[in-house]
Amino acid sequence: MKLSHRITHLTGGGSDGWDVFYRARRMIAEGHAVTELTIGEHDIRTDATILAEMDRSARDGHTGYAMVPGTDLLRDTVAARIQNRTGVPTTRHNVLITPGGQSALFAAHTAVCDPGDVGLYLDPYYATYPGTIRGAGAIAKAVQTRAEDAFQPRADLIEPHVEGAVSLLINTPNNPTGVVYSRETLNEIADLCQRRDLWLISDEVYDTQVWEGEHLSPRALPGMAERTLVVGSMSKSHAMTGSRCGWIVGPEEVVQHLINLATHTTYGVPGFIQDAASYALTTGDGLEEEVAAPFRRRRSLAMQVLGGQNTVGLVPAQGAMYLMLDIRATGMSGEAFANALLDTHAIAVMPGESFGTAAAGHIRVAMTIDDDRFAAALQTVCDFASELAGQHAAE
Ligand SMILES: Cc1ncc(COP(=O)(O)O)c(C=O)c1O
Repeated sequence: MKLSHRITHLTGGGSDGWDVFYRARRMIAEGHAVTELTIGEHDIRTDATILAEMDRSARDGHTGYAMVPGTDLLRDTVAARIQNRTGVPTTRHNVLITPGGQSALFAAHTAVCDPGDVGLYLDPYYATYPGTIRGAGAIAKAVQTRAEDAFQPRADLIEPHVEGAVSLLINTPNNPTGVVYSRETLNEIADLCQRRDLWLISDEVYDTQVWEGEHLSPRALPGMAERTLVVGSMSKSHAMTGSRCGWIVGPEEVVQHLINLATHTTYGVPGFIQDAASYALTTGDGLEEEVAAPFRRRRSLAMQVLGGQNTVGLVPAQGAMYLMLDIRATGMSGEAFANALLDTHAIAVMPGESFGTAAAGHIRVAMTIDDDRFAAALQTVCDFASELAGQHAAE
């Protein structure tokens, strides 16, 4: 039977640098001890007080269909949080609660892209971006950011790709680079979106993990609230990846349509999850600081380890739970290095090539194991890179 072009062409196909990830998974399944630094899953679990609220809510009967747009309580809570951060008046009518940020990304693109429209995204990118844009029926087009710009996007490099585009997807703090976009970068992007009439889809799921500088939401910039769809999530901020709770914040008219889309797709998010999320977001900053603290600590450890050598470069590690390391001194691709590292030292990292082409010759390290093992693994990565760079220089 024939399947739709849309579903069969959701992902690009071909080698995308994920082989090393699947190989590491197989090695673990076969009982090998592998140091896993590949994916963005916390090494702590959802806080017990959040679980207690989930339990209370479920036992109180919130196990039926919840309101499709989200409960009033959670929509109000998210609206207050976004208003607080951006200074832009925000009410529940600007908020749709979604099953995680991923579903919000899909809904946002569905809201603004018609079939054949181009949806732009920036390379290196979070793995699902191109498939999400294609899934919404649009043509996904990557625009490279550059290692020499420390992966800060440049509007003058995006502009030549704008023909036919209706949206631009950005992500700050960034996965996979760990870069936080500067005010100057965001001002340039805002100006581009206004001049070229683009929707800006702003993925801010790492907004509570900022180690240097500050997170600025483009919703806060003049003239941007009416053309920005902010994507947020409880996954990273509160170690609630499995609870599937996120949101879109945008203009009321868009949210009205998005509610219609949700009615015909997800039919909302469980009420007891939403109650737990409301509790987590209103209980003060303590919970999110607790979740961010291990990454902040490991980032400091990484600076120490990397400071003691000069083979491996570090892309400014300003936010999120990852480090992007430049291993080009070894003369190897990120993929070849990651494979060799797995074979020789049983350490699994993601090749930069698995996030597009812009981060070739880099590897991404997730800071998601305990401090001692993390620092030791990073030291091994540096020693291994230095050995390979020495061989490369002698060739
Ligand atoms: C940049 C980025 N956006 C969105 C997501 C989706 O997160 P969730 O659907 O769990 O909210 C992730 C998950 O890793 C991510 O890294």
